[in-house]
Amino acid sequence: MLERFKGLFSPTKEHVDEYGIQPDTVPYHVAIIMDGNGRWAKKRGLPRIAGHRAGMKTVKEVTIAADDIGVKVLTLYAFSTENWKRPLQEVDFLMRLPEEFLALELDELMEKNVQIRVIGDSSGLPAHTRKTVFDAVEKTKQNTGLILNIALNYGGRAEIIDAVRTIVQEVIDGKLSVEDVSAHTIEQHLLTSGLPDPDLLIRTSGEIRLSNFLLWQSAYTELWFTDVLWPDFRRHHFFTAIRDYQKRGRRFGGLN
Ligand code: FPP
Repeated sequence: MLERFKGLFSPTKEHVDEYGIQPDTVPYHVAIIMDGNGRWAKKRGLPRIAGHRAGMKTVKEVTIAADDIGVKVLTLYAFSTENWKRPLQEVDFLMRLPEEFLALELDELMEKNVQIRVIGDSSGLPAHTRKTVFDAVEKTKQNTGLILNIALNYGGRAEIIDAVRTIVQEVIDGKLSVEDVSAHTIEQHLLTSGLPDPDLLIRTSGEIRLSNFLLWQSAYTELWFTDVLWPDFRRHHFFTAIRDYQKRGRRFGGLN
């Protein structure tokens, strides 16, 4: 566990009472696959992009909810390496959403001491998206509160391939011996290096798969699925996921 996370948890009593959340087992790291924006829009006869815009509001609500109960890292799957296959207009819109989100919310996130990070292949992003997100990363880098980790142009397999390539090169260069390659070596070369693995992964919209998200990191993550579409996902759904997580017995391959 990271030094900075130790002993930092201090939920307000109000949330513990209201939602029945136990303060001592709040997950440090929650990851979310925000799915169902397109179906949400279709149900209303709206274009898919209307679903993504509505989904952006849920991002705000869930970020605040996570911060309120003392979650330390929230990783959101905003755009996968496979999402480029979508129609150009939708991709364009998704690439502009971080700008819209940050223009609306960055001041409040700053006030809440939120640190923004980005994981994924940023070299593949349009210049305007890259600039906006990295300006926000820079502006919030001294913040010590919730880490809002946005996965943009992220793919779990690509992340592992990159890590393996770097490690192989280190072996070739004589900086590392083959016997010394361990799980820790791999972790150090992932984009999440320095962060604890997700304790809980939530996926909305009834799909029950990982879709190339945090493949290495989710080896022992508790998975939680709901039929609720992401734009309909509210604070109380998030707290239900947390309460369910708190009922699970985590054994990490061992015994209770
Ligand atoms: C999946 O729903 C959702 C996405 C590919 C995009 C998610 C992005 C957001 C919620 C906005 C994020 C914004 C920021 C700033 C982090 P889908 O389109 O696959 O839905 P469908 O399966 O119903 O078609």
